[in-house]
Amino acid sequence: MIKYDVLSRLKNETDFISGEKISEDFGVSRAAVNLAVKALRAEGYDIKSVTNRGYKLIKSPNVLNEGELMSYLSKERMGNVLCLEKVNSTNIYLKEIAAEGADAGQVVLADEQSAGRGRLGRRFLSPKGSGLYISYLMRPSVEAPESVSLTAHAAVAVARAIKTVCGADCGIKWVNDLTLNKKKICGILTELSVEAETGRIQNIVVGIGINVNEKKGSFPAEIKDIATSLYSETGKKVSRAHLAAEVIKELDVLAERNFKDMEAYLSDYRKMSVTIGKDIKVIKGDEVKAGKAVKINDDYTLKVEYDDGTKENLMAGEVSVRGLYDYT
Ligand code: BTN
Repeated sequence: MIKYDVLSRLKNETDFISGEKISEDFGVSRAAVNLAVKALRAEGYDIKSVTNRGYKLIKSPNVLNEGELMSYLSKERMGNVLCLEKVNSTNIYLKEIAAEGADAGQVVLADEQSAGRGRLGRRFLSPKGSGLYISYLMRPSVEAPESVSLTAHAAVAVARAIKTVCGADCGIKWVNDLTLNKKKICGILTELSVEAETGRIQNIVVGIGINVNEKKGSFPAEIKDIATSLYSETGKKVSRAHLAAEVIKELDVLAERNFKDMEAYLSDYRKMSVTIGKDIKVIKGDEVKAGKAVKINDDYTLKVEYDDGTKENLMAGEVSVRGLYDYT
């Protein structure tokens, strides 16, 4: 879209740039450049224009669109990134286009989700303009590994992206919630489509929801003691486009590995774990069992010693951790 090409050009200039130069660069008319500038202003971009000097971008609004992402990702990579204003759920949308043949690496982002989904059929609140809601399509050439490791690797990738963009050191609560200062900052919902006959994975949709620029006290009552945002914890507004781009880059690296040479992910996962060594409660349906989280095994299952003396390597399930947001 020419509008976002113009935006990206303005973002890369520190001084004024003439409309003529922009039109030459993109091989479009001056009128098309004028229209693009008008459309960008309508979206809230403050663009100054001075006769004989051209245009200069003064301030960008807090929006997440292709134009913003283009500042951080190559044109080629952007070819597989779809940025929507509003969708029911980026996971649902991506699963639909995956079934129609979307390429591995396809990304769907949205500024708002009307029916964001969490694990165990829960809702994931996804208000407009503050969080990052992103889904990434993988098509690994392996048979279905334990899904616990898929999702654990994604947690490490997202924690690394957050560290790069805003310096925050997240914790990982088994299996894949990211925490900051004992509250939840990010949830991941990984959905797998497996060929029944062969057990081969057709695709994996990794859906990530990060609380980014929500203000302290802005979360609704039902999650205010559980959730926090990067802004609330660091005091700094975070560019969602920058964060999205880093998440995409980290997931590209992860996908490229195709589950080989994953030792660095396992050691980071263990270092970031806020579960190991803690008193926990394991919730399986109506049954709740108290115990201690002993270690993360090499396959990312959680070794638990229950208070009744029994032991288990947990592959899935809900765990609440003493001292963290969801321990009651
Ligand atoms: C959880 O904490 O239970 C997982 C939350 C996952 C939310 C993300 S937001 C992007 C993607 N689309 C969805 O509908 N869900 C995931």
